[in-house]
Amino acid sequence: MRRPLVAGNWKMNGSREITKTLVTGIGSDLPGDCGIDVVVCPPYVYLDLCSDLLGLQPVSLGAQDLDIHGPGAFTGAIAADMLLDVGCRYVIVGHSERRSLYGESDESVAEKAAVATARGLTPIICVGETQEEREDGITAEVIRRQLGVVIENAGGKIFPQALVAYEPVWAIGTGLTATDHQAQEVHALIREQLSDASEEAAMGTRILYGGSVKPDNAAGLFAQPDIDGGLIGGASLKAADFLGIIKAANS
Ligand code: PGA
Repeated sequence: MRRPLVAGNWKMNGSREITKTLVTGIGSDLPGDCGIDVVVCPPYVYLDLCSDLLGLQPVSLGAQDLDIHGPGAFTGAIAADMLLDVGCRYVIVGHSERRSLYGESDESVAEKAAVATARGLTPIICVGETQEEREDGITAEVIRRQLGVVIENAGGKIFPQALVAYEPVWAIGTGLTATDHQAQEVHALIREQLSDASEEAAMGTRILYGGSVKPDNAAGLFAQPDIDGGLIGGASLKAADFLGIIKAANS
């Protein structure tokens, strides 16, 4: 049985004040018998504050990216060990905004996933097609390529520790969600491809859906057999919405 996971990707949003309000808001209403894993991924500079605020709450901390190098002369970069040092357990790699705005390649995403896993972090590896690729009918091909490079370069052994997040680029921040059927279809393909790594990878890896998940569409998505939770952007910035999504994953 795969334990559902809901992760909030705050992207480049927040302040010390907002962090305090949001984390306190989430903590105050989290179901006591939470049967799922909950993760928040604030910007780097608020990780430490978040870690203090979370205290003993059943919420884990994640970062939005990492650098593949160890500590050293890499101005502006953050190493895996630093993330561990401030209490992170998870790290998002290969988000489509990193791929499209900062030129991250499939290869660098695979390298980040490998480094994260080797250092003891759990990577959440994002894959997803653009609107144009979907219209061209090459969604399966794009996902196969993105995940294939990870399996080949990082090695199949990173699964099932590593997670995959299917995030259709056209659904991110647009209010357009993939239908339950569209999402399930791609999740099933991802699970099938994970069997190239191992049967354990296919059965045990948690595959999250991301792209305009809201409290009112979360339950339908999470009810799909191959959807094991969500990676939430906009709705993770409002405690009530994030809690609504957590409840949908927990039911
Ligand atoms: P969204 O973002 O929920 O705002 O669409 C999801 C993501 O980018 O991870």
